[in-house]
Amino acid sequence: MDVETIRELLLPATTGGRRGRAVEAALRDAIRTGRLTVGTRLPSSRDLARQLGLARGTVTALYEQLTAEGYLLSKHGSGTRVAPIDDPAPDRRISTAKSPTWEFDLRPGLPALSAFPRAEWLAAERESLNATPDLGLGYPDPTGHPALRAELAAYLGRVRALPTSPDDIVVTSGAAEALSLMADTLPEQTIAVEDPSHHGQAALLRDHGLAPAGIPVDDKGIDVEKLSTSDCSIVLVTAAHQFPLGVALHPERRRMLLSWAVETGGLIVEDDYDAEHRYDRPALGAMRALAPDHVAYIGSVSKVLAPALRIGWLIPPPRLREAVARVKEMHDLGCPPLPQAALAHLIATGGYDRHLRRTRRLYRARRDALIEALAERLPQWQPVGIAAGLHLVVRLPDGTDDLQLQENLAAASVYAPALSTYSHAAPRYPGLVLGYAALPPDRLRAAVERIASAC
Ligand SMILES: Cc1ncc(COP(=O)(O)O)c(C=O)c1O
Repeated sequence: MDVETIRELLLPATTGGRRGRAVEAALRDAIRTGRLTVGTRLPSSRDLARQLGLARGTVTALYEQLTAEGYLLSKHGSGTRVAPIDDPAPDRRISTAKSPTWEFDLRPGLPALSAFPRAEWLAAERESLNATPDLGLGYPDPTGHPALRAELAAYLGRVRALPTSPDDIVVTSGAAEALSLMADTLPEQTIAVEDPSHHGQAALLRDHGLAPAGIPVDDKGIDVEKLSTSDCSIVLVTAAHQFPLGVALHPERRRMLLSWAVETGGLIVEDDYDAEHRYDRPALGAMRALAPDHVAYIGSVSKVLAPALRIGWLIPPPRLREAVARVKEMHDLGCPPLPQAALAHLIATGGYDRHLRRTRRLYRARRDALIEALAERLPQWQPVGIAAGLHLVVRLPDGTDDLQLQENLAAASVYAPALSTYSHAAPRYPGLVLGYAALPPDRLRAAVERIASAC
């Protein structure tokens, strides 16, 4: 974002009294609501003071205040930048805030929305609605449509080696609600989260009364020794495919993590958000199968079909099942049953598996195109976490300022988030997180071409 845009954003705050405080509030608000994105470099205090007609000391003071509050990062030599913050406001504003449009949007997290099986979904909706008796249009079972819970139980047994009964499952509005249900069921306490990880999840947990604490992730997954010396008795892990680094939790670490939970009475929250997208071999089975009393399992259709469906599921440990069901009922009396009935129909008739087989081939080709283009144009960048998922990470040469690179790429209309934006403490290495699932191979090649020339 250029100085001119930042000036326009802050100028309205300079018209009344207490101008310094008003600009400080406007800047805080712009960061909180995502209008100023993580890593954006702010003008120097001298420059901004001149642009806004303020005293330089006023701008220095407000930069210091926002740095102390965690909204800004000041680093000698690289100026003042917007810090990663754990505030959910940007997500809430997503549909109303004016967000920039990118020529190449490589943010991770989206499947190929253009591949959504519209015809099969429409048929599933029509047929499941036809089969729904009038009574089925009344208030639903708050734990989820019985047909969907039955299909999910069979699917998870088959695809995730997770034996479970329909009565164990609570259908949720995506993995996000599954996580908030867990948080609302548990007493307020610290929860270990992977570092790096999804900041939106940390923000959600905080909003629901838990205090996230980062535990480092290396190339074998979460550092279980560090977890066991922390004061946390709950941990949120993306074991099958760590977000964002893309590593699978090493078998030895899986054993250690499960032993930690069993021996200390700890709870593992297993976020199995995209385990189905593994390209080299079938994904390791879900951890919950090995310690159902100590693992709360979370799944979602967001990466397989589309986030817009807002369908996910939670399988809490049996001792928490009733409490979770009560919290869910208090949340919203249950998720809408008609889309659940359609999803149940899609799974039962094989449409879900067919779609997965199709998209797995599609994503594999897209991933390969991205890796080939990177190898050709940016051979010093090392792709990691490539065996699974909808994105990969490129490890950049040591010493690269990935936030600065993100900013340079944004100026070239490429949105490629820096790995630092997912870190809770200092990142182990600089990187970029590149989502490839939503773009066809020729667009990915063009994106790499643009990245290479912007570097
Ligand atoms: C780590 C992780 N878990 C879960 C999800 C899915 O969330 P939801 O099902 O609420 O769309 C995402 C989506 O971005 C994710 O990145």
